[in-house]
Amino acid sequence: MTASPASNPAYGELTSRGASTNIVWHHSTVTRAARAHQRGHRSAILWFTGLSGAGKSTLANAVNSALFEQGLACYVLDGDNIRHGLCKDLGFSDADREENIRRIGEVAKLFLDAGVVVLTAFVSPFRADRDKARSLVDGGDFIEIHCAADLGICEERDTKGLYAKARAGEIKEFTGISSPYEEPENPELRVDTGGQSLDDCVAQVISHLESQGIIPAVN
Ligand code: ADX
Repeated sequence: MTASPASNPAYGELTSRGASTNIVWHHSTVTRAARAHQRGHRSAILWFTGLSGAGKSTLANAVNSALFEQGLACYVLDGDNIRHGLCKDLGFSDADREENIRRIGEVAKLFLDAGVVVLTAFVSPFRADRDKARSLVDGGDFIEIHCAADLGICEERDTKGLYAKARAGEIKEFTGISSPYEEPENPELRVDTGGQSLDDCVAQVISHLESQGIIPAVN
């Protein structure tokens, strides 16, 4: 039988969080600035947030493809995928979602340091958790992108069949149905993923990155 995370020694950090002592930061000899200079573009965290089915993964992947075509260093961290590995020990309670977003904030910060435009696609329903992720990095490095599709549209799409299950009570604590989603109050970008075409949404994100001097303007 597999030990539960709480009783498994491999998950020891979960039961003794914040317990690392006598550790000293080692500065990298290759700096973020040097990486940006070599690659010809800055790095940034593009934090996509929104309801399940709002189009976060679709938009993040489409933007990622556009950046990749331009020869830029980029990578998508996707909620469903990360929960297959790094965060497979977490469920969907408020506390587990908080820990999920804490880990992703830290991982995204590493990508930022590695000179990569990192696109995170997580529901990340709680404002405080998103704000904590934002606070890990400097202003301008964190671009919150609200994928604003109404609950009605997401539920109608129900691409994974999860809303039907949530309504039937088969999935507990489902965002938008039985668990809250706190909309960003002041995101860097709000994209109408419920109404606009994917191409238009991608163009909106790319144009923001160009206007902020994160990536070179193509035209
Ligand atoms: S988060 O709230 O912790 O940010 P995350 O983005 O990692 O969530 O995972 C959300 C994905 O898990 C959804 O897109 C959906 O496919 C799936 N999922 C399964 N159960 C739930 C649930 N109770 N609430 C929301 N999403 C769920």
